[in-house]
Parts: sequence; structure tokens; C-alpha cells
Amino acid sequence: MGKENTFLVTVWIILANICVSFSSTPEQTLFGNSNSTEWLEDYTDIVSKFSLRTAEIPDDDLCYIVPGQPLTIPKCEFNPGYKTFVVIHGWTVTGLFESWVPKLVTALYKREPKANVIVVDWLTRAQQHYLTSAANTKLVGKDVAKFVNWLQKTLDYPWEKIHLLGYSLGAHVAGIAGLLTNHKVSRITGLDPAGPTFEFADAQSTLSPDDALFVDVLHTNTRGSPDRSIGIQRPVGHVDIYPNGGTFQPGCDLQNTMMMIATTGIRNMDQLVKCSHERSIHLFIDSLVNAADHQTMAYRCSSKEAFMKGMCLNCRKNRCNKVGYGVNKVRLPRNTKMYLKTREMMPFKLFHYQVKVHFFSSEKLAYTEQPMKISLYGTHDEKTDIPYTMPFLNTNSTVSFLLTTDVDVGELLMVKLRWEKDAYFSWSDIWGNKNFHIRKIRVKAGETQSRLSDSRVIFSAKDGEYAYLIRGKDDVVFVKSKEDNMSRKEKTMHRLKMQGSHFKNKIA
Ligand SMILES: *[C@@H]1O[C@H](CO)[C@@H](O)[C@H](O)[C@H]1NC(C)=O
Ligand SMILES: *[C@@H]1O[C@H](CO)[C@@H](O)[C@H](O)[C@H]1NC(C)=O
Ligand SMILES: *[C@@H]1O[C@H](CO)[C@@H](O)[C@H](O)[C@H]1NC(C)=O
Repeated sequence: MGKENTFLVTVWIILANICVSFSSTPEQTLFGNSNSTEWLEDYTDIVSKFSLRTAEIPDDDLCYIVPGQPLTIPKCEFNPGYKTFVVIHGWTVTGLFESWVPKLVTALYKREPKANVIVVDWLTRAQQHYLTSAANTKLVGKDVAKFVNWLQKTLDYPWEKIHLLGYSLGAHVAGIAGLLTNHKVSRITGLDPAGPTFEFADAQSTLSPDDALFVDVLHTNTRGSPDRSIGIQRPVGHVDIYPNGGTFQPGCDLQNTMMMIATTGIRNMDQLVKCSHERSIHLFIDSLVNAADHQTMAYRCSSKEAFMKGMCLNCRKNRCNKVGYGVNKVRLPRNTKMYLKTREMMPFKLFHYQVKVHFFSSEKLAYTEQPMKISLYGTHDEKTDIPYTMPFLNTNSTVSFLLTTDVDVGELLMVKLRWEKDAYFSWSDIWGNKNFHIRKIRVKAGETQSRLSDSRVIFSAKDGEYAYLIRGKDDVVFVKSKEDNMSRKEKTMHRLKMQGSHFKNKIA
């Protein structure tokens, strides 16, 4: 068997372990037989451990805070004046902390030097068969609820300073803990909450918007049918963000995976299978350390398809939000999804643009899958030859699509468009008489949109009324229109706003 086959079989075995069926989920009642909260003060059955990690030694558990033993709080140098992060890991094959744990601890301290970062160790219950570990989230959620309740009560610690962060199964642990505490914690961040056995489970058994004052979720590995998806597909928070559609992340494809195996050896196999799953953590780390100049944005959209057409780059009425730590704590209607595209590595930020073009022609032309190159020139920088394959290119039709750049070009001044030859020889290229003419290109920027939001900037053909787009020929050039950079509706709105404020000033 070749290397590739061995790899695929191993991946299959790992996936088969992850993607178990729902039928055999053990049903437990969360509260036992009574509705009293006495159990919350029984610390004798707590199995999970709570380690206060430090910025200096983020990768080792040197001091445990033990519920019921108040002296462990000062011993671990827990600072009651600081905010507290509680980090909860997920299912593990190795029974060891994964390498992201110290990375996240470091990033949290880097962003918030005045914080207590506590890592929950439930490794023994997390390294069982997936189904067993998934069922264990209820027990671990109770442990965490007891710990948080006890800590709060012992120190009269403010609930609004408690932020739980859970990855995979850990996200559901955080949700269950948040549901059971005497008071809602301030925030829970779910990092690609686990899918199998949770997709169709009730709100008590999964992370849900009821579990904290604010629940934000990143979904990064939701590929396949719901029962095969590693990450939960449905929204489970107040803000649910689906980077790159949420299914699968750039840089995590099989080819890259094979390359990494070749260079790093077989030991990292399970790491590689989880590439997209774990991306949720690295996006959050990115938001902690790169926020100042690389804050990524996400946009509310009815579907992934509409987002890919560039239709949702709107920031009015909380339609856009910051990704990760700095998220605006708005409680969106349930089942709202937000989207963005990212780079394949940190910093993940991309700038989003909607490009809208109408293709005129006197002949009836129809093409599919046409390779285009688009160049953007702005006040700060430029990005040339961004590839885009146009799914359809038909006479007298309008195309709208999403374009992204990793550089901040600033305010857009000029747009170029080139129609590449495809791989096949075509007689029409020789005579070159097939062309589309384009009068203008409309561009709407997501990140750099002007104050007068939702403004679309119009770019007109540089020479003459039309530009002629011919396959295999030069770029066609469009420059920002001098006049009419606002639509009529926007002009009216603008005038009303100005007059409105005028009026207000006068009566004030
Ligand atoms: C517990 O349940 C009883 C009846 O089942 C009810 O009367 C009581 O109010 C409940 N207590 C709490 C704290 O919910
Ligand atoms: C496309 O529209 C233009 C202008 O509206 C028109 O002159 C032209 O005949 C149309 N082309 C076709 C193939 O219908
Ligand atoms: C429209 O163009 C004018 C002149 O170029 C400029 O002053 C104004 O800010 C532009 N408005 C928008 C919304 O871009």
C-alpha cells in the first residue's frame, strides 16, 4: 500500500471514530431527580481540575484551585480584581493537552495582562470513545458550574468578569456549566462546538444563547450532512460566525495535509485531520493578538451563496461585526448566520468587495467558467491580477461577485478587468471579434466603506463610453466617476440627514 493509501485509511479510521451515529446516545437528566441546587455545593465528586496558568509558564499546570479549599485561591495567586477566563478543551485521542492550549493562554494574557486564565483539565473523561466523552460533557459541565459558583461565592466575585471559552466538546461543557450556575456568566465563546450527538440535541445538552449574557460562536468545520459534521452546523449563540462558509478552511485541504505529513512526520496525523476544526481557535487567537491593525469583520447574510455573490457587505443595523474577542455584544435574532472569507494563515484578515458588472453585447454570447483577473488600485496600495472564475458570462446580463484582497488598498480609485484565455484553443480567439462592452463597474467595499454607509462606488470606462472586453486581450480600465458617486436615493438620504441635523441645531 502506498503512503497515500495508508494516510487515507488512517484518516478514515479517525473520522469513523469522530462521526459516530446518534442512536446510542445515553440520555441522562441534567439535574438528577430534584430541582434543588444543593448538589452545587457538594465538591466531593469533582473530577475536573482547575489550573491557574501564568503568562510566564503558559504550558504547564503548576497550581490548581480546588473547589471547597479557599486557601488554594491565594496560593495560586488568583487576583480577585482581574477578569477571569476559563478555557475548556475538547475530545482528545492522546490524553494530553493539545498544542493550542498554551498558545491561547499566551494570547489571552497578551491582550489582557490583568487577567486570571484558568485551564480546565478533564483529560481522563475526554480521551474515551467519542460517544462516552460526548456524554461526559454533562458531568464536566457540572464540575465547571460548581467551580465557578464556589469561586464567585467565596470571593463575592463579579459575574460580569467571567468568560468561559470552550473548544469542540468543551463548548458544550461551557454551555452546560453556564446553564447550571446561580447567575449567568458574562460571556461564553464556543470554538467550533462539536457536532456529532449535539446537532439535534436540546438546548440543555448543548451550548445555547441561554447559557450566558452573551454567547459568540465560530463554526469552522461543518462539512457534510449534519450527522457527519465534526462541528455543529446550526447557530447556537447570539452571534454565530461561519468563516469561509464554515464548512472547511483554506490551507486545510488534502494536498497541504500530505505536504505537512511529508515534512513533519506521521505523529501529527490527528492534528491534521482537525485542521479546520482547530482553525476556530487560531481565528480567536488572531483576534486577541492582531486586533489593532488586522481586525477581521463578518457580515450577516441569508446564505453562503448570497455572501459569495458579495450581496451582504453591509454594516447598518448590526449587519456586520468584529470577529473574535472584540465582537460587539449584540444579540441577533436566533438562527442568524454571519460570514467572512479569510487567508489561510495568521493574520487571517481579508478585505471584502462586491463587484457588479453588466455585460452588453450585440451578439448572443454565453459562456461558463470564464477565468478573469481583476486589479484594484487605491489611495494606499494596489492588488493586481486577483483571479476570479465567472460561473456564467452571458450577453446583457449582470454579474455580482465577492472579491477579496489581503492588502488594504485604501479608497479605491481604479479597477481593471482582464478576460483570460481558457485552456482550450478557440477559433474565435484568432479573429477576436467576440466581445462584451462594459459601461461601468460598481464596487462596494466591506471594511473600508465610507461613513455614509452602503455607498457603492461607480467606476466608468476610462476611454469612451464603453470598454471592450475581449478574451485573451488587454485589461479594460475603469476609473472612479467624478460625478454621481452617490446614487439618487443616497443623495436624497444625505440631504435629508443634513437638513435634519440643521433643523435640530436650530431648535436646540
Ligand atoms: C422545585 O420543584 C417544586 C415542585 O416540583 C416547586 O414547587 C419549587 O418551586 C421548585 N423550586 C425551584 C427552586 O425551582
Ligand atoms: C443587448 O442590449 C443592447 C442595449 O440594450 C441591445 O442593443 C442589444 O441588441 C442587446 N443584445 C442582444 C443580443 O439582445
Ligand atoms: C463623491 O465625490 C466627491 C468629489 O470627488 C467627494 O468629495 C465626495 O466625498 C464623494 N462622495 C462619496 C460618497 O464618495
